[in-house]
Amino acid sequence: MLRAEQNELVSRTRPGTPMGALFRSYWLPALLAQELPENECPPVRVKLLSERLLAFRDTQGRYGLIDEFCAHRGVSLWFGRNEESGLRCPYHGWKYDVTGQCIEVPSEPVESGFCNKIKLKSYPLVERGGVLWTYMGPPERRPPLPEWEFAMVPAGQSFMSKRWQESNWLQALEGGIDSSHVSFLHRSDLEADPLFKGAKGNKYNLADAQPHFEVVESPGGLYIGARRNAENGNYYWRITQWVMPSFTMIPPRGDHPVHGHFWIPIDDENCWTWSFDYRPNRALTETELEAMRDGQGIHAKCAPGTFRPLANKDNDYLMDRAAQKAGKTYSGVEGFAMQDASLQESMGPIVDRTKENLVSTDNGIIMARHRLMRAAKALVEKGITPPGVDALHQRVRSASVILPPDQPFKDAAREHLRVREDAAHASV
Ligand code: FES
Ligand SMILES: [Fe+2]
Repeated sequence: MLRAEQNELVSRTRPGTPMGALFRSYWLPALLAQELPENECPPVRVKLLSERLLAFRDTQGRYGLIDEFCAHRGVSLWFGRNEESGLRCPYHGWKYDVTGQCIEVPSEPVESGFCNKIKLKSYPLVERGGVLWTYMGPPERRPPLPEWEFAMVPAGQSFMSKRWQESNWLQALEGGIDSSHVSFLHRSDLEADPLFKGAKGNKYNLADAQPHFEVVESPGGLYIGARRNAENGNYYWRITQWVMPSFTMIPPRGDHPVHGHFWIPIDDENCWTWSFDYRPNRALTETELEAMRDGQGIHAKCAPGTFRPLANKDNDYLMDRAAQKAGKTYSGVEGFAMQDASLQESMGPIVDRTKENLVSTDNGIIMARHRLMRAAKALVEKGITPPGVDALHQRVRSASVILPPDQPFKDAAREHLRVREDAAHASV
């Protein structure tokens, strides 16, 4: 449980808030590279951390993320003309480059230099691993580009999707580090979904619905270990990575691609759920890619041309009571992604954490909230760089392993919890 003011602190990320400052310490996924597929393509509206921005790709292929609104009289530059190395406002023709610098005000004499004095707010926008990343913090604190393994492997070994989630970012993240819900909410899908089924570990998951959790601080966040019984007195450990502020990597299953998420605030009541799948040591197969594009695994089917899931709160997530009753799905909602999102959205836009009753399986969530609050305070009060900014903190892996009963997971699985270029994930 949190006090009301703590709940405000961890949830809100608009400019001027402590958690907003924390998010502005990192490179954040802003768009899929395919949203700006070619030079001079249509610009895209982007709202991040409650700021309304516009992304565009100019004549030379340079990316820009600038204030959505024209400095003249506030027209949305989404209506603009993307031409001759800049974006031109269609109202009176003011033109901006990818840095937000105004480069032409047609009504004023060139000699006046008027346009030099006009500059829109702008942030860097850089492609890596099929994602356009932005950094929205103070330029002097800008870190090196992110090194998440899924973004560093050759093209063809990773897949990324995003979907709009109608809830605050934190209750979505909390679902990502709460692996105790898998034995309930997702139980019917473990052996049905093409990107999950057939792994030996699934049977331990299904047989033991009372996992024991051990949560340990990692350099960038937390290792969340879930222990279930295996054969001969051994334990099946699933170790999730959480790296600040909102990256998670779910433990792998068998030879399936490894997946995880980022939850990035659009504003305080909406977020982007980014979902990746990758293999460090082989290309994804056409069958795997087809399943991902089709919204299987952790991905979701969206309305064509949008990032809004087809099953959404306006249609009660296509709830199927008969499937719920028959045990075909545990909740009646289909697919991992919308099973999670439906319940997280059902809590309301920002869940009231003063009313909750936490139990021991919520330890990861409790520790994550406190680490977030501590880091935000240290940043705002003392200028201390938060965990997860350092690229070393990003070069991590999740793991699933069988260990003898006397071995602490953190020591026994140490080698498996970091990127190793010569090996695949440890997976059962
Ligand atoms: S409002 Fe954009 S040029 Fe006038
Ligand atoms: Fe889930």
